[in-house]
Amino acid sequence: LMSAVAATALMTSATTAMAACDEGEIVIKFSHVTNTDKHPKGIAASLLEQRVNEEMNGKVCLEVFPNSTLYNDNQVLEAMLNGDVQLAAPSLSKFEQFTKQFRIFDLPFMFKNMDAVNAFQNSDTGQAMKESMTRRGLLGLAFWHNGMKQMSANKPLENPSDAEGLKFRVQNSEVLKAQMAALGGSPQPMAFSEVYGALQTGVVDGQENTWSNIYGKKFFEVQDGITETNHGIIDYLLVTSTDFWDSLPEDVQTQLATIINEVTETRNSEAYTVNQAAKQSVIDAGGVVRQLTPEQRAAWVETMKPVWDQFKDDVGQENIDAAQKTNQ
Ligand code: LMR
Repeated sequence: LMSAVAATALMTSATTAMAACDEGEIVIKFSHVTNTDKHPKGIAASLLEQRVNEEMNGKVCLEVFPNSTLYNDNQVLEAMLNGDVQLAAPSLSKFEQFTKQFRIFDLPFMFKNMDAVNAFQNSDTGQAMKESMTRRGLLGLAFWHNGMKQMSANKPLENPSDAEGLKFRVQNSEVLKAQMAALGGSPQPMAFSEVYGALQTGVVDGQENTWSNIYGKKFFEVQDGITETNHGIIDYLLVTSTDFWDSLPEDVQTQLATIINEVTETRNSEAYTVNQAAKQSVIDAGGVVRQLTPEQRAAWVETMKPVWDQFKDDVGQENIDAAQKTNQ
């Protein structure tokens, strides 16, 4: 039996969702996979929904479907090309089928922090990447930040050798598979929605993710601890289909693009704070967080960085050089 509170909450959310769209409005379904609060993407998506529905009422109706309730990341881009969903914000690791350019974002220790990522994305090279898949029917509207990745497992990870022989869930990305192989681990690609269960049942031993994802999906509950490695990033492309975008009247395109740019700027500047709060929430909930000594960190760098060589031709040495410059 559902509690009265749960029943009311369900009715309220159903009413809101239904009441949101009026006859004649252009409907934009936005599917994503994370939780909604204490999460950079979740908060940004909700803010976008709120602003579009307030400021474009009568013209456009935006509905967010979080937590993989509509599609997981392995399905959403195909659904978009079929016209079943109009907005998504998959991590940059999930465009493997469409472009090799984004592999630069997965290379371990490529970016020192999110400011460097931001600077690279805002360069001409970065901005051009948003339109690198139009031939394949996808148009990037903005880069949305999450944050730096941390490593967790069912045993303490202090030296890279601790990862040897462990099975690690990875996003479906060739770079991330190579990175785990470099550690002597066994990479297991799987959808985000399946990670908690896979960690809990021991299908995999560990994973890498940002604080907001580790907290939002409670991975810390089913891991020995999390090591603050900051070895890579998770960032997103807010993406639509070229077909859908081209079908919009020009004034709608303009207003939507303006709102998207404002939401992007506001929320990207808060992404770091959101992740730090999530880290604190992990600690408050009893999760174990481990720090690396400078020597240990150097060992992780030394073990993982050779992966760059494998992907140099895909991402271009000039892009690697440009990314490295943003670290200075
Ligand atoms: C993951 O699959 O681990 C992340 O890309 C999930 C997300 O959207 O942050």
